[in-house]
Amino acid sequence: MSLFARKPITVEGDRGLIRVLGISDLVMLSIGAVIGAGIFASLGTAAAGEVAADGTVIRAGAGPALVISFVLLGVVCGLAALCYAELASMIPTSGSAYAYTYATLGEFLAWIIGWDLILEYAIGNIAVAVAWSGYFNSLLAGFGVHLPDWLSHGYFQVKMSADPAMQAMFAAAPKLFGLPVLLNLPAFLAVAAVTVLLCFGVKESTRANNIMVWIKLAVLALFVVAGLMHIQPENYTPFAPNGFRGIHQGAAIVFFAYIGFDAISTAAEETKNPQRNLPIGILLGLAACTLIYVIVGAVATGLVPYDQLRSADPLARALSLAGLGTASWIVAAGAVVSMTAVLLVFQYGQPRIFFSMARDGLLPKWAAKVHPKWRVPHITTIVTGVVVGAGALVAEENAIYDLTNIGTLAAFALVCIGVLVLRVREPNRERPFKVPFVWLVTIGGAAACLFVMQGLPTRAWVMFGVWLLIGLAVYFSYGYRHSVLRTGRPIEVDRLDGTH
Ligand code: ALA
Repeated sequence: MSLFARKPITVEGDRGLIRVLGISDLVMLSIGAVIGAGIFASLGTAAAGEVAADGTVIRAGAGPALVISFVLLGVVCGLAALCYAELASMIPTSGSAYAYTYATLGEFLAWIIGWDLILEYAIGNIAVAVAWSGYFNSLLAGFGVHLPDWLSHGYFQVKMSADPAMQAMFAAAPKLFGLPVLLNLPAFLAVAAVTVLLCFGVKESTRANNIMVWIKLAVLALFVVAGLMHIQPENYTPFAPNGFRGIHQGAAIVFFAYIGFDAISTAAEETKNPQRNLPIGILLGLAACTLIYVIVGAVATGLVPYDQLRSADPLARALSLAGLGTASWIVAAGAVVSMTAVLLVFQYGQPRIFFSMARDGLLPKWAAKVHPKWRVPHITTIVTGVVVGAGALVAEENAIYDLTNIGTLAAFALVCIGVLVLRVREPNRERPFKVPFVWLVTIGGAAACLFVMQGLPTRAWVMFGVWLLIGLAVYFSYGYRHSVLRTGRPIEVDRLDGTH
């Protein structure tokens, strides 16, 4: 059977899910999964740009024109969101973009997407954990507690920084066998705690999600209200210090702030009147996040000169530079809570994607093991925890944002193309939701994703290329030979819901 064999679309029976979600629930779910490290942390680099330790410019900053980057990204993600909504309403199954691609573009590209989703979920969470730690450190500082530098910063974060204070930190770090010891312990502990919770079957409930959403909105509102009164209009000139290049390159990193809305499409089966509510819910959620980002971006760049936002905790820093110490402390506390929610969502999602891939025979069977008592895929939950925790101990966040973004954008582009392919191949299949102007939206969406990818630095493309090569090696040495679809040999796996 060919490399591009497609998995037939089968609706896995009635999974007993009740259609309870309305538009406002979908909007709340989007905000819960989406608002996190992107706005709280990557915003700083997007506005200020990035310079390597040796002085080379890695990316140009958008400056106050960051607000334009946000609007452009809202449009790009809107196109991809429509495509997700069509596939989600047709193929309601766990596994998200991986499952959609398996049914539309075939096994080989599905594997590539599944491999890409590791970047979106697991690798992305390394960046969230590092951002979590940045705000946690400023929260502790508010209590007068300072962890030693070598226990609150990761090796690469310090080594790759052009900031003289970081370079001094590198020189002063304790040495082990001549190698500086720099470990981001808070980031590691945050991942460890979330992993333990998930092993016991804790999952986000609608109630917990709603509380998190209100906390996020409250701290961002506090940031805006406190900040508005201290805006210095002169900070807005020049508005776009690096022209469109800055807006484009800023957008390419702050795209991280939008990741997660695609996860909402997995709620298709639980949505009332999905034909109408799913697209409206996803798009409204996106519009709400875009509006919030534009307002926060406008206040942050008005509060301090944009180049001062280059920091691990830019929103808290902007407030404290403006003399608003208490507000800065509260925002830091809220950011820690918000990013814990994001950690939970993605740390929960990754093992379930591995689960789908193992069920199809593309990963070893142990990846689909479900704990008999806790009913969670415990082995993959722990493996994900170990990988993300180890990464978080030493990682530099900007390189990780880039790698996550490039992988996610590639997945979005393939999902857009998948919609078109399926329209042409199976025009008569029932589609509870249909993308309007399908040629324009799908081709436009894929092209827009590629354009955003182009704004990422060369090192992101190199890392992505290496990642794909590793993925190919894994596929041809395992999945190619064990795929259920290709070999026709079904494998027995545990079920997540406890039935057999
Ligand atoms: N969009 C998510 C965040 O910003 C991944 O943390």
